[in-house]
Amino acid sequence: MQKVEAAKMTELKGKDRLIVALDVPTMFDALKLVDELNEEVGMFKVGLELFTHCGTKLLDELKKLEAPVFFDGKFHDIPNTVAAASREIGGRGVQMFNVHAQGGSEMIKAAQKAAHEAADTAKVQRPILLAVTVLTSISQEILTNDLGISDKVDEVVARYASLAKASGADGVVASAKEVPIIREKVGKDFIIVTPGIRPTWASEDDQKRIVTPKDAVAMGTDYVVVGRPITRASDKRDAARRIAEELNG
Ligand code: C5P
Repeated sequence: MQKVEAAKMTELKGKDRLIVALDVPTMFDALKLVDELNEEVGMFKVGLELFTHCGTKLLDELKKLEAPVFFDGKFHDIPNTVAAASREIGGRGVQMFNVHAQGGSEMIKAAQKAAHEAADTAKVQRPILLAVTVLTSISQEILTNDLGISDKVDEVVARYASLAKASGADGVVASAKEVPIIREKVGKDFIIVTPGIRPTWASEDDQKRIVTPKDAVAMGTDYVVVGRPITRASDKRDAARRIAEELNG
């Protein structure tokens, strides 16, 4: 898949919108899934579980297979440290990676600059930089009582999305329900990646606020992250094809 500019998002095919979460513990399991699904989906998400087990060797293996990667490392640290980590990732040809918007403008800018420089030096594509706004595991109660933020979750999400855009991020990771308020705040030319997706035929698992692939696209999301409905299906390719079909809108 080619890197797509935010303005061209509406032209994406269903398959390109589909990111499969490689939520498996080992490199062997991950590469097996990629081998099975590489033709059917647009990208593969590497999260902290898999990455802490495999390290950057996995990213290099996926590059050899020409499997586009969303590196879901959710960096959040001082700008200098996030820049160093972003440099490591940016030079490896991943399609997307992310940081926490809560790290602030200076940190987001440092991540983008370092990732772009590393990509240019390595002569690979510059990765799309996403910001995580408020994790969907953070309830209003946690936000208010634990984190001392008295504003509504939606308002904080919208504010962080604006901050991310103003700081040079290309988009955000957010729940489908938050897409309207984000679009209202930052407009169309900004990528939204949405997890918590369940087709009507799949189990909800532990996800609480689920949306179907079709509804997610209708609500204005650009990419969806899907794990278990595909990775635990008896016919994984067929599950991926059916979801991609729905994402065609
Ligand atoms: O299996 P399932 O489709 O629920 O997997 C969703 C993926 O998206 C998992 O990797 C999960 O960690 C991730 N995710 C999520 N909700 C968020 C952020 C990330 O489900 N708010």
